[in-house]
Amino acid sequence: MAALPLVVVADPIDRASVERLRSGPCRVLDASAEPTTLGTHLADAWGLIVRSRTKVNADLLAKAPHLQLIARAGVGLDNIDLPSAKKRGIQVVNSPSAASASVAELTIGLYLALLRGLYPAITSTKAGRWERGTHGHELAGRTVGFVGYGRIAREVARRLRAFGARTIAYDPFVPTAGDGTEMHSLKEILAGADIVSVHAASTPENRHLLDAAAFAGMRPGSYLVNVARGALVDEGALLEALSSGRLAGAALDVFETEPPTNRALLEHPKVIVTPHVGASTEEGQQRAGSEIVAEVLRVLGESRPATAAAAGAVP
Ligand code: MLT
Repeated sequence: MAALPLVVVADPIDRASVERLRSGPCRVLDASAEPTTLGTHLADAWGLIVRSRTKVNADLLAKAPHLQLIARAGVGLDNIDLPSAKKRGIQVVNSPSAASASVAELTIGLYLALLRGLYPAITSTKAGRWERGTHGHELAGRTVGFVGYGRIAREVARRLRAFGARTIAYDPFVPTAGDGTEMHSLKEILAGADIVSVHAASTPENRHLLDAAAFAGMRPGSYLVNVARGALVDEGALLEALSSGRLAGAALDVFETEPPTNRALLEHPKVIVTPHVGASTEEGQQRAGSEIVAEVLRVLGESRPATAAAAGAVP
């Protein structure tokens, strides 16, 4: 009797979902604890489950000659060599909306942290100082400008209505938002927003979409928030815009290199940072794990995946 197809889990995903997969018609090898040896487990792999840590590039794919399915527990597909996968006829599926609420909530938290100066307020109070006085701005009445208007940006915009903020957006793939957010050109978004919030997919075309010229076009005293992908922002130009006083602050959950190496940016007093945790809530990861395992089981059962991923999908 032929062996059951082997599914290799390369990155840590929700434990209960892995257990559910084990009860399916496949063998499961959880290699997530030892990323350096992943390649040695792929010779016989039928399926590969990843988050964003594993780079599914041509080298890795060459080690997996029998691979039929790449399952991305999450939304971004920038860590997967989609053209090579397509050429080999490997299906790619993801869980595009599993963690939208988690990322949207972190985004709003970062807006509030920037506007109210929460990081310096917390650290100075813990250090024994008592620095009262005027502390920042309200979110009410502010204009938030989205760069990219996919699922996550829409979730943020929906929540912002409760705060009394105005929302505008730039997205070349979305002519009309239909939810009260006004669509504009990138230039208009940069010039019109108090907070520029980045939510686009990372593609070779939009690398450094937010560059020195973009920062020069932002409102003096405005803020930048990036919870999408580090490659969208030129970190050198951002540092310059912060140091020159053009920008009042930036909140970054993602970086050009992860873990980040740009110490000057990390340590800049106007910058607050988190370690790419937008999607990493218990709830978001449970949904991502359970949705992606459902997809793997579905493909194993030879039905068509509902979320067959398209290159350039917007997070
Ligand atoms: C995503 O694209 O889903 C997120 O960036 C989170 C992740 O899986 O690491």
